[in-house]
Amino acid sequence: MYICSSRLVCFLRNIHRNVRGERRQRLQDVIHAGNALKVALDFGFDDTMSEKELRTLSNQVREVYSSSLRAEDPFHLLFTNYSRTSLLHSLLCRTMNEDPFCLPIDMREEKVTRLFPREDIVFLTPDAVTALETLDKTKVYVLGAVADKTVKKRLTLDAAEGSGIAARRLPIKEYLHQTKPSYTATMTINQVFDILLMYQTTGDWTASLLSAIPPRKGFIARDEDRQTYNK
Ligand SMILES: C[S@@+](CC[C@H](N)C(=O)[O-])C[C@H]1O[C@@H](n2cnc3c(N)ncnc32)[C@H](O)[C@@H]1O
Repeated sequence: MYICSSRLVCFLRNIHRNVRGERRQRLQDVIHAGNALKVALDFGFDDTMSEKELRTLSNQVREVYSSSLRAEDPFHLLFTNYSRTSLLHSLLCRTMNEDPFCLPIDMREEKVTRLFPREDIVFLTPDAVTALETLDKTKVYVLGAVADKTVKKRLTLDAAEGSGIAARRLPIKEYLHQTKPSYTATMTINQVFDILLMYQTTGDWTASLLSAIPPRKGFIARDEDRQTYNK
């Protein structure tokens, strides 16, 4: 059967639109059901970034949303401490091709501490002393919406401590060995988000961390911790 190329393009576009519609609906359902693991991006750090860093951040936030759309078992995604009048909001509307308020994201202007009890909140920060051991659906995991080109040490750790929230770092030291000590264990929000998504599905920290950390950072699995999934 002959299908002319423009009809084929239309056909494929329709499939793409339907798949995207179904995925959006799934994210919306997850928010309404309220029983998925909650991950919040805290947008309270705009003042610490240059316009260039805000642009980088808006691209990373788009990646977070794309990962969320593609995920088999998506999180309940929240944007907290979010301001409609910020420069970041205008950048995000452009980068995401849509106003985030129209997307299946739980958009909140309030700080995360106004939305959930402090004891249920865990701030993920590279400077925390204690490593995250597992994911617990009764908790809300918060990522700092920060893209600092020159890493500002303790930015989110100080914020967590100041608000009386538990702080945890990814268990990189526990599961990986670093062959190039010059690289830091600070990752972008979309990398951290992807690690959490994969960990939720596999329960394997080694594989989840290695899947998102760029090889140039020189991290390898600690052999004794390698699990079947990564062999
Ligand atoms: C580019 S980092 C920002 C680093 C910033 N200097 C800070 O103090 O958080 C973006 C966010 O990803 C999360 N993150 C990055 N690396 C992490 C790690 N190793 N452990 C836990 N969270 C991490 C944190 O939530 C962090 O705020």
